[in-house]
Amino acid sequence: MQVLVFKNEAEVGKAAGMIVASEIIKKPDCILGLATGSTPIPTYQEMIRMNREGILDFSKVRSFNLDEYIGLAPDHVCSYRRFMNEQLFDHINIDKANTHVPCGIGADHEADAKAYDAAVEAAGGIDLQILGIGHDGHIGFNEPDDTFSRETHIVELTDVTRQANARFFDSPDEVPDKAVTMGIGTIMQAKRILMIATGADKADTVRAMLRGPVTPRLPASVLAFHRDVVVMLDAAAAGKLEA
Ligand code: PGA
Repeated sequence: MQVLVFKNEAEVGKAAGMIVASEIIKKPDCILGLATGSTPIPTYQEMIRMNREGILDFSKVRSFNLDEYIGLAPDHVCSYRRFMNEQLFDHINIDKANTHVPCGIGADHEADAKAYDAAVEAAGGIDLQILGIGHDGHIGFNEPDDTFSRETHIVELTDVTRQANARFFDSPDEVPDKAVTMGIGTIMQAKRILMIATGADKADTVRAMLRGPVTPRLPASVLAFHRDVVVMLDAAAAGKLEA
């Protein structure tokens, strides 16, 4: 695992954007695994900038997002489909038909989850997976548990996660209590993983991920078992690594 520390989140975004760019230049029809949340926004801004400047072409790129809230339609103001459109897809030359976000409103969530994994597999698997990390160590919406999940599945969100995400909703009560997420197994099958964490509020979790044992109680710790992971941190998120 390669751990790189940058001065601030803007520098992390630039470096992370370079990793994405190198993947697309190497393989123009690559499969990107994408994440929502505040953390990847500077990276997405770099991707948008490079596309505007003609450096980066997304016309053949395909993408699969990690997760979606159960009960939110794609056009809901807090849905992750809407987030991805607004933060990235609407600003680059990606074909939206090539972008995938799990469905939160289907009649059969189990069948939809299976179909999502099948679609990832049919596309040839994820070449580069971007990940953030939750305060409780979640990746995607894989919350602390007794075992590592394998496939895309439905989860109950923890109070920590619902509180952290309440800032996007009008009231904390509106945060859904369930989500659909790629499993740890799905994530670990990605050929390459780029984990990004920024801000002092992530410092304890980052330390536990990098210095503690591998345990499903801190799902991100599983990344120690993946052979191609880059972790990009700003100085604040790296602040407790030497403690
Ligand atoms: P954040 O979320 O980027 O908004 O902190 C990260 C996550 O929950 O994975």
